[in-house]
Order: sequence, then C-alpha cells, then structure tokens
Amino acid sequence: MGLLSVLPVLIFTGFIASYCDASKPNIVFILADDLGWNDVSFHGSDQILTPNIDSLAYSGVAFGRYYSHAICTPSRAALLTGKYSYKTGMQGNPLGMSEDRSIPTNVRLLPQYFKDVGYSTHLVGKWHAGSSRREYLPTSRGFDTYIGHRGGYIDYYEYTVTEVWEDGPVSGLALFRNLTAAWDVEGYITDVYTEEAVKVIDDHDSSNPLFLMVTHNAPHAGGDTVVLQAPPEVVRELRYIESPDRRMYAAMVKKLDDSVGDIVKALQDKGILENTIIVFAADNGGMTTGLFANYASNYPLRGIKMSPYEGGVRVVGLLWSANLNNTNHYWDGYMHVTDWLPTLLSAAGVEPPTDIDGVDQWESINSNSASQRKTMVEIDDYTGYASITYGDYKMITGEPIQSHSEYLGGDLRGLIGSPPSYIDTIADSKVFGALHSIGRTFDMDFLSLRNKTIINCDASATSICYPSNDTVCLFNIIEDPCETTDLSSTYPELVTTMQALLDIEMSKRIPRIAPASIDRMSAPSLHNYTWDTWIN
Ligand SMILES: *[C@@H]1O[C@H](CO)[C@@H](O)[C@H](O)[C@H]1NC(C)=O
Ligand SMILES: *[C@@H]1O[C@H](CO)[C@@H](O)[C@H](O)[C@H]1NC(C)=O
Ligand SMILES: *[C@@H]1O[C@H](CO)[C@@H](O)[C@H](O)[C@H]1NC(C)=O
Ligand SMILES: *[C@@H]1O[C@H](CO)[C@@H](O)[C@H](O)[C@H]1NC(C)=O
Ligand SMILES: *[C@@H]1O[C@H](CO)[C@@H](O)[C@H](O)[C@H]1NC(C)=O
Repeated sequence: MGLLSVLPVLIFTGFIASYCDASKPNIVFILADDLGWNDVSFHGSDQILTPNIDSLAYSGVAFGRYYSHAICTPSRAALLTGKYSYKTGMQGNPLGMSEDRSIPTNVRLLPQYFKDVGYSTHLVGKWHAGSSRREYLPTSRGFDTYIGHRGGYIDYYEYTVTEVWEDGPVSGLALFRNLTAAWDVEGYITDVYTEEAVKVIDDHDSSNPLFLMVTHNAPHAGGDTVVLQAPPEVVRELRYIESPDRRMYAAMVKKLDDSVGDIVKALQDKGILENTIIVFAADNGGMTTGLFANYASNYPLRGIKMSPYEGGVRVVGLLWSANLNNTNHYWDGYMHVTDWLPTLLSAAGVEPPTDIDGVDQWESINSNSASQRKTMVEIDDYTGYASITYGDYKMITGEPIQSHSEYLGGDLRGLIGSPPSYIDTIADSKVFGALHSIGRTFDMDFLSLRNKTIINCDASATSICYPSNDTVCLFNIIEDPCETTDLSSTYPELVTTMQALLDIEMSKRIPRIAPASIDRMSAPSLHNYTWDTWIN
C-alpha cells in the first residue's frame, strides 16, 4: 500500500479516537441567577427546601468556598472564557439591552472548546454576554442551538424586558430561538427552560458527548416593575414563610429546584446519567435589596450582589458525577468561576488552554486535596472598587456600594408554621429517585454533611470596616467569614504585598467602557417589538 492510501486511514482513525469519543463524559451545567448563599437547604436553610439540588450535593461534592464575580455579566464572561472579567472588558455594571458590547470575538468560549472535541453544544436560558450584533450571539460563539433571553432578565410570563428611556418605557420580546423571536412559547419561564433542556437531552444522539448549559432566569427579579413572579399554587404551598416577599422568592427557588429534578430524571431516562457531570452554581450573591431586589438572603455573610464582600462573591456551588472519588462529599478549597473551563475540560480528558486565569481543579476536587488556587481578584472599575484574596486574607479597596455591603437578609428568616420534613422531602425528590435507580443513593446521615456547609459567624457586628480610595480593609476570611474585623493595621506588610499583586492585575485590565447614551436603533418598536440585534 502506498503512503498516500495509508494516510487517510490514519487521519480518519485518529479523528474517530479524539473527536467522536462517546466515552467522554456528558456535561450539564445549571446556573442560577441571583440565588443567595442561604437559599438552599444544604446550606442550612429551613425555609426554602431544595431537595433535588441538595441530593446532588450529598452524593457529589458540595463546595464550601466557591467564588464568582459579584455581577451577572462579569460572572458569565468569566465562566465562558476562563478569564477574569476585567481581562475582557466585561467587568462592572451588567450589559443593558441597548449597549453595543460583548466578550471580544477573538476570545474562545467554553462551548467552542467542547465543540472542537466532538461535543453537541446547547444553551438554554440567559446569555447576557453581548447581543447587539449577530456575531455576539450564542450560535455564533460555539453553541449548536440556543433558546433563551439574551439580556439580564426576562418577565417570567410575558418574556418581555422593559427599559425606561428618557422619553418613557420601551418594551419588547426578549426570548429567542437561535436567531428568531420565540413567539410560540407559553408558560412560566422556568418550566419553559426545563422543557427545552429535557428536549435537548431526549433528542440527543448519544454517539456524541453532550455539553448542555441551562442558565435559568430564576430567581432573578422579572423586571424592575413586576419584580417577583411565581405560580400562585406554589406560593400557597409555602405559607409557612413569614415574609410575603420571601415566600414569593422561595416559590421561584422551588421551581428552580424542580427543574433540577426534571433534568436529572431526563438524564436517567435517557440512560446517560452515569456518564454525566452535573454542575449547579449561582452566578453571584443574592440581591436582598436595592434595584431588582429579589429578597434572597446571603445570611450570615456580609454584602449582596454587586459587592466584593463574601455575600456578593462566595456563592452556592456543587459538582456531581457518579465517578467521583471524593467520599467526603464536601470540598473547602478555593474554587473560582474561571476554574470551570479548565476543570471541565480536564474532566473530559482535554488539555486546558494556558492563556487563562482559571486553574484546573479536577484532581483536587476528585481526591479531596488542596486547591490549586491561592489568589482571587475582583475589579469593578465602573463602580470603583477592587478586592484581592491571597491565602486566608481578603483585602478590599476603593468604594464598594455601602448599602450593598452590610449584613442583610437576617430578618427574612421568619417562619409562621412548620416546613415539611426535610428528610421526607429529600427521599421523595426526583434526584433521589434517579440516584436510587443507578445505585448511587447517599447515606441518610446527610445532616452531618449539611453541617459542614453551615457558616457560623457573627452577623450583628456594628463597627465594621468600609474602605475608601485611600484606605483598605483586610479580613481573615477563613477565621472571620463575616468580615467583622479589619486587620490592615495589624499586618501592614501583608497589605503592601497584596496591594502590589492587585496593582499588577489592575495594569492588565481592559477598562470597562461606560455605557454610551442609549442607542435608539435598538428600540424594540423598530424590530417588530423585539429586542433583536440592531447593528449590521
Ligand atoms: C438552531 O440551529 C441549529 C444549527 O443550525 C439547528 O440544528 C436547529 O434546528 C436550529 N433550531 C431552530 C429552532 O431553528
Ligand atoms: C476513582 O478511582 C478508581 C479506582 O482507583 C479509578 O479507576 C477511577 O478512574 C477514579 N475516578 C476518577 C474520576 O478519577
Ligand atoms: C449539626 O450541628 C448542630 C449545631 O452545631 C448540632 O447540634 C448537631 O448535632 C449537628 N448534627 C449532626 C448530624 O452532626
Ligand atoms: C474615589 O475614586 C473614584 C475613581 O477615581 C472617584 O470617582 C471618586 O470620586 C473618589 N472618591 C472620593 C471620595 O474621592
Ligand atoms: C411580528 O410580531 C408578531 C407578534 O406581535 C408575530 O406574530 C409575527 O410573527 C412577527 N413577525 C415577524 C416577521 O417576526
């Protein structure tokens, strides 16, 4: 046989081996929007029971110290790129519907890496990483299919977004299927996304691995006028929650938990659950108060969304796989949102890129060993603050929004009746049932596991440190997770070291472009009352 006839065979078999490898794990990444630290029951909440999410944590690995950026757009940009948001100019205030900005198109995104090694890639839900031009959209950036809202949030029933411009409110449909306005959709948006995700799983050709991201609207506020929206019968079930606002929020979280149950059940029905890695994470801390308040609670952590304090950035996170060897089911190493890209690629046997900020944590999580990460950086040059975590310490500088940096949400904990039995709720959940069917149920002694994620600290301290342009606050976040005690004058040399590290990061920043005045060409009235692309 001549060389020329052998070559195609070699190339072809090489292609089969590396690109169509059905043994690669499927990946299902579920992201919640503005979910608080204290809003899942595996973190100790007695108010909001999340048995499906909890079951994944108890049989997988719950993260004790998972950190994200403090705001939606920066977090999503970091998740998709493996880079700190300030390296792509995506830091600071989230994208508005009429803003012409996106993750630079020369930066490769998470789904592109998976697509390149043979995965089918699908996004169901929120994008919020650029939607003014077609080339910024999910289907131009590595996703085979897309259905969802392109901006920061959407009305749970109408699928509209309303922005208030100088001359009054403008409103339009914000839900799209690939490139087309999704006029055909009906129902509560969390159910809509669940059904679409289940359909992706049902229709999946199992000879290829699956990469599915489900980025829920829940439990973000539905808008700045409608705010909280949930089916009334679900709200009614939660009458034991004292605060009516919190009750509504809890119903939104319950629907999110139900969604996790349905998605895991669909994986089981398809027969692919045992070879699927599932991630459940929050994009940033809960938005207890302020614009788009959703009555989430990060209690006892200090601060909320848009703040560099722990409540804004230390968030819910877990990883589940039937093949994990971490029998502790809890990992307290630092894990950052930028770490998902290299960690998931590594889990799939793909060499992660090196030009990123994320580090591969797969082995550390799997074997319950030390985190590969010592430093985490948050820069919001739009609001005007920055923070750096270095070992056990976090330093905050600049001017975080003070009203977002206090102890909030403690007063939302009231009960006026008894919640259902936690243990029964777990045993009745769809995820527990699915785990049972593949012989992966967990020890019913999970309450001791739950104790590991509960943070005990003093959320009533009054004389707490706020930095300014000229002063910093330094906290030991391991010993003092509530950030009550400023140590900057105790450890001046550490402050100097950390400031120097932060200055280096500052110098690598692409400044956040302040939103220009609203681009009127984006007006939905010019696009059949949809928020469609308007440039090109
Ligand atoms: C979206 O695009 C993909 C890829 O072209 C296609 O397979 C899929 O059918 C499209 N979906 C819709 C609803 O048009
Ligand atoms: C867990 O350990 C077993 C036995 O050592 C090994 O075969 C398996 O690959 C490990 N799983 C992972 C995810 O590393
Ligand atoms: C959990 O922690 C609480 C309070 O520290 C303790 O009373 C309880 O016994 C612990 N439960 C388990 C199952 O370890
Ligand atoms: C702090 O710095 C920011 C950014 O340079 C500036 O906008 C702000 O006015 C300063 N604050 C004070 C109190 O000087
Ligand atoms: C324009 O919007 C209406 C709903 O208001 C929809 O039924 C129609 O299909 C849309 N037309 C186009 C061309 O998208």
